[in-house]
Amino acid sequence: MLEVRNLDAGYGQVQVLRGIDIDVQEGEIVAVLGSNGAGKSTLNNNISGLFKPFGGAIRFQGHDITGNAPADIVSRGLVQVPEGRRIFPNLTVRENLEMGSYRRGKPNRRANLERVVDIFPRLSARMGQLGGDAFRRRATDGGDRARPDGRTLAVDLG
Ligand SMILES: Nc1ncnc2c1ncn2[C@@H]1O[C@H](COP(=O)(O)OP(=O)(O)OP(=O)(O)O)[C@@H](O)[C@H]1O
Ligand SMILES: [Mg+2]
Repeated sequence: MLEVRNLDAGYGQVQVLRGIDIDVQEGEIVAVLGSNGAGKSTLNNNISGLFKPFGGAIRFQGHDITGNAPADIVSRGLVQVPEGRRIFPNLTVRENLEMGSYRRGKPNRRANLERVVDIFPRLSARMGQLGGDAFRRRATDGGDRARPDGRTLAVDLG
């Protein structure tokens, strides 16, 4: 489903990733482990199109998405939940969840929102709140809801 081949990536003159090969099959969970600064986020950000690879190829469901725009990659169903508290702090919990389904999940918003509240019942009391301590959950739900027909979710835990 997701194939990374001989990926080289970095920033300006600095190369961070060298010759990375990764395969993620349908239904599989693949964890990339490494120390701080090892390049995990760099890998996710290149797969998501936020940075362009120096070399190599990234294919998703048989399509070459190397260097494609992030919006195109999300539309194909490859959704990243970035590390840290990357939410919209001035929006409510509900609005943040709705933003997670901005592109793909819109037609299924209501059903997906119910599913999220089923999984995380305490969210229902927080829908109108800003901030709070459920940042990770909300961010993860946001990504999850953008792929209602079940594709690939890349969660960057650090
Ligand atoms: N935007 C950037 N510009 C320049 N260098 C960067 C940038 N982002 C990361 N780096 C550098 O790239 C290397 C890999 O960083 P990266 O953030 O991918 O690591 P990581 O494995 O995600 O680390 P952590 O566990 O701390 O999240 C580090 O040396 C980092 O300083
Ligand atoms: Mg990181």
